[in-house]
Amino acid sequence: MKQRLLFLGPPGAGKGTQADRLCKKNNLLHLSTGDLLRSEVQAGTDLGQKAQTIMSKGGLVSDELVLSIVKNKLIGLDSGWLLDGFPRNVFQAQALEDLLVQVDQPIQLVVFLKIDDGLLIQRLLARGRDDDNEEVIRHRLEVYKNMTAPLVDHYRGKGLLKAISGSGTIDEISNRIQEILE
Ligand code: AP5
Ligand code: MG
Repeated sequence: MKQRLLFLGPPGAGKGTQADRLCKKNNLLHLSTGDLLRSEVQAGTDLGQKAQTIMSKGGLVSDELVLSIVKNKLIGLDSGWLLDGFPRNVFQAQALEDLLVQVDQPIQLVVFLKIDDGLLIQRLLARGRDDDNEEVIRHRLEVYKNMTAPLVDHYRGKGLLKAISGSGTIDEISNRIQEILE
């Protein structure tokens, strides 16, 4: 099975839910920049304080902060990994590629979870995380469309992308992912 994966998709697509399951089952490191940033916020670190205001509004935290977190986790790692919520723009994607060339561990597959806006808004409102209110969700979606969605073509152009539907039950989506990993 592929050991170096990236999950791409809008907020609420199910990236975190599916990544958790897949990583537990296959012993991969689940690297969610959103989760890592939330831990920094909770611990009240300098980095967390810088990130908090931006996250609460649904904007993107600075590339520099995010890249420092990811580099620390990826360098020297001897297991496979799954990146969730990173990269978030073309600059981050390029920085990631440079890093992966250095460590000689290229991405093997990008899974793109496709889903309608209506369904993801419903899911996020039902979850109710701090940034899951209607106004912030709309902004996160706009940021996704402007900054992150161009990565779909970026990875498709490299022949790395497989798209699946992110609607259906959690089990149905896990099965779809399993099929494209084999
Ligand atoms: P991040 O934590 O990455 O949030 P997000 O992209 O908005 O995505 P979510 O985590 O909300 O959605 P998800 O696709 O993981 O779905 P989930 O599985 O949780 O980022 C948060 C913030 O951090 C950003 O706004 C930004 O400020 C900052 N940030 C993070 N990374 C950054 C980066 N690289 N650069 C700069 N800034 C960065 O599912 C959602 C809900 O739906 C859950 O309640 C779940 O239980 C439910 N659900 C899942 N699947 C199903 C299903 N099949 N059926 C029904 N319900 C389902
Ligand atoms: Mg998530």
